[in-house]
Amino acid sequence: MIKKKIFLKKIRNHRHIEKEWIKWLNDKTLNKYSLKKKNYHTIETQKKFLQKKISDKKNIIFRVYLGNNFIGICEIDNIAITQCEIKYMIGDKKYLKKGHGSSLIKKMVFFCKNTLKVKKIFAGVVDKNIASLKVLKKNGFKKIDKKMKPLIIDKKKI
Ligand SMILES: CC(C)(COP(=O)(O)OP(=O)(O)OC[C@H]1O[C@@H](n2cnc3c(N)ncnc32)[C@H](O)[C@@H]1OP(=O)(O)O)[C@@H](O)C(=O)NCCC(=O)NCCS
Repeated sequence: MIKKKIFLKKIRNHRHIEKEWIKWLNDKTLNKYSLKKKNYHTIETQKKFLQKKISDKKNIIFRVYLGNNFIGICEIDNIAITQCEIKYMIGDKKYLKKGHGSSLIKKMVFFCKNTLKVKKIFAGVVDKNIASLKVLKKNGFKKIDKKMKPLIIDKKKI
């Protein structure tokens, strides 16, 4: 059996938004460690979000596919000459915990190093997001202690 591969498809227009994407954004469990869960997302709010991202020269946003299946979204943000930041989500829950998150980060890192030619890649992670910390560690990321304003999630400071 041929193993399906993760691939990234750059999003170039904001007109088409998948219903499943909206469902992922409104899923409180999936977004447990994200500020996304504070808002209610619709096709219209997402069109506006995408329009902003596409016109931002420091951002590239992609749909994530596993074979033909649309399974997530990722972005490379705050792109500068020497560094950038990665953000990612596997939204289709049936594809979680199967190693695809790790493959996704690997693809993103490859793109950042080889296409953007940056020297440093950052990812902001809430300490409790074990899955995210694991996929980053597997791809060679190191934890740095950066003092940041705490996020308030479920009335707790994180
Ligand atoms: C972070 C994310 C991409 C990981 O994707 P994934 O496909 O599940 O990742 P992988 O299967 O490659 O690896 C996840 C690892 O974390 C572990 N894990 C997953 N959920 C976990 C949990 N709730 N608690 C502890 N470990 C967990 C898995 O067992 C696996 O461990 P292993 O490598 O020792 O087997 C995915 O959980 C996700 O998109 N989450 C929602 C959005 C998000 O949090 N994005 C990151 C913001 S910083």
